[in-house]
Amino acid sequence: MAILHILEFPDPRLRKIAAPVTVFDDKLEDLIDNMLETMYEANGIGLAATQVNVHKRLLVIDVSEEKDSPQVFINPSFEVIEEELSEYDEGCLSVPGFYETVSRPSGIRVVAQDKSGEKIELEVEGILATCIQHEIDHLDGKLFVDYLSALKRNRIRDKLEKEHKKSA
Ligand code: NI
Repeated sequence: MAILHILEFPDPRLRKIAAPVTVFDDKLEDLIDNMLETMYEANGIGLAATQVNVHKRLLVIDVSEEKDSPQVFINPSFEVIEEELSEYDEGCLSVPGFYETVSRPSGIRVVAQDKSGEKIELEVEGILATCIQHEIDHLDGKLFVDYLSALKRNRIRDKLEKEHKKSA
């Protein structure tokens, strides 16, 4: 297994639209294992392939307290089943150090495939519903900072660009 490099905002590669996964092979399993290891190592609760510069529709999530319940969603989509909004202070491994309140529909039905290509269908709410919506946004080139005011987003961008220059 390997720790993968995580792209950080405002890297333009985070804006790419990911393509569907069509091949379910050992290479895909390796990618899933590496993404999970990368997510756990960074103390994240979700990671989309886009964030590690792989532009395929794949995400890994673990919202459990014990960090022992990895979930994999391939070619995920969702429909809203509970329009009422929940608010969470969202963070993102691609926007390190920043947390902002974002509102999203509180209940969704997710359709996806597992690592063997089998169909998964589930209804989720709470933090998992928020997390899945956040990660699917990544596959469409969207970040949680897009939900903030331009003023806030630009402030975050400027601070991160400064950090990136320092560490370059
Ligand atoms: Ni994120």
